[in-house]
Amino acid sequence: MPMLTDWRAASEGVPGYRALADRLRLLVLDGRLPVDTVLPSERTLAEALQTSRTTTTSAYRLLREMGFAEGSQGAGTWTTLPRTEGRADSPIWPEHLSGDPDPIGRGDFSSAALEAPAELYPAYAAALAEMPRYLPGNGYVTSGLPLLRARIAQRYTEAGLPTTPEQILITNGALQALHLVLDVVLERGDRVLVEHPTYPAAAQTIRTMGGRCVPVPVEDGWDVQRMGTLIRQTGAHLAYLMVDFHNPTGHLLDEAGRRELGAMIADTGCRIIVDETMRDLDLRTTLPAARAGLAVPEPLPMPRPLAAFAPAEHVITLGSASKSFWGGLRIGWIRASQPLIRRLALARGNEDMGGPLLEQLATVHLLENQGPIRAHRQQLLAERCIALTEAVHRNLPDWTVPVPQGGLSLWCQLPEPRSSHVAAAARTLGVWLTPGPRFGLDGAFESRIRLPYARSTADLASMTEALAQAWRSRGRAHTLDDDLTTV
Ligand SMILES: Cc1ncc(COP(=O)(O)O)c(C=O)c1O
Repeated sequence: MPMLTDWRAASEGVPGYRALADRLRLLVLDGRLPVDTVLPSERTLAEALQTSRTTTTSAYRLLREMGFAEGSQGAGTWTTLPRTEGRADSPIWPEHLSGDPDPIGRGDFSSAALEAPAELYPAYAAALAEMPRYLPGNGYVTSGLPLLRARIAQRYTEAGLPTTPEQILITNGALQALHLVLDVVLERGDRVLVEHPTYPAAAQTIRTMGGRCVPVPVEDGWDVQRMGTLIRQTGAHLAYLMVDFHNPTGHLLDEAGRRELGAMIADTGCRIIVDETMRDLDLRTTLPAARAGLAVPEPLPMPRPLAAFAPAEHVITLGSASKSFWGGLRIGWIRASQPLIRRLALARGNEDMGGPLLEQLATVHLLENQGPIRAHRQQLLAERCIALTEAVHRNLPDWTVPVPQGGLSLWCQLPEPRSSHVAAAARTLGVWLTPGPRFGLDGAFESRIRLPYARSTADLASMTEALAQAWRSRGRAHTLDDDLTTV
């Protein structure tokens, strides 16, 4: 029912039963109402929405006609998805869903992740040459390759947060890191403060592990006082935050904000899981320089990691090589107190016994080269961010496009709450994107769309043209028959 509170919004002049059917259709399309969900009876729904039984009966009939519901007398009504034709012929259909390989993933606005840097292949080659040294051992490194743990600890120390290798656990990506941490520190039913909007896969992981998300708005930045109040009011012991180029807004919390947040953490005793996956993607100087056609000036200093501002036991940091180097490495890590790392390593032993050695060795080589790789990626992202911004201004002049401080995406504001409509329409044109509500709880952000600028400028231009076509056709019915992963 909370998902239907605004079912009449944005449907002026449309009969009530159509507005209701359309709202339900969008909830199914967006995955918020899973397939095979039994819907309330027509009478119950009419009472709850304070509308007539004719409206709900007609809405369910229309849903069935559109292929979004099935039902029978006595058995009730449940959600389904219709089959669609012709999509796999699209020239820009993402490989991970079509079964028709397009390893480059053109047409994929759902993915905020870059291609591999030129240094990646040589890093693998160097790693392969080193493998013979490791072959006499059993190959299991549950806490991670000691060399990589040491290199990551050094990276934190250099960033202003003294760290020992024993405080690092290597994982298969930041998402596994989050899963492991929740496995150890979360009790079923615990409330977890999350930014609103937030990274969808994190919110989903929290829910799957039994947590209840408490949203705190961050579209205008972090209001630490409000966060403290929410933590006290809800009894949340845990928060999941991305203060280093937040996904999807690109915001960065400055040193003063971190100091304030650190004091609030000490005061409330709340534990913070801070996800630094985007930390290397700083556009604060590269973006204005690229826009003005100037050489890149000295980068601005990054604020120290959040863990430098709070009591050691209270901040658990997640990191990843996915955005700094490449998602295909599947390398992430956790930085925490030594006793907690030991507990996490035990949990990890029960899960998958550790990660692959070759990727860990390759990541050591990439970290040795991280300065130039970072600079090059920031430059690339700045150029693509400008190209996408211009393409949106050109093709979708009534959309509002913000200037991000960093990260991989534009968090665009639409003139109407039609995000899910546009996403569904775009898919029929072979462009995948994640609608705004995926980044929110309970249907929020229907007026937002996240557009990553991870692809080449040529792809971004053609994808934006397709998006504009989808925007123009947003009033028509569109369907899709499967779901997508958001990175
Ligand atoms: C904030 C954030 N955390 C974690 C991840 C997933 O990282 P990994 O590929 O290391 O699992 C992503 C990927 O998009 C992300 O944006």
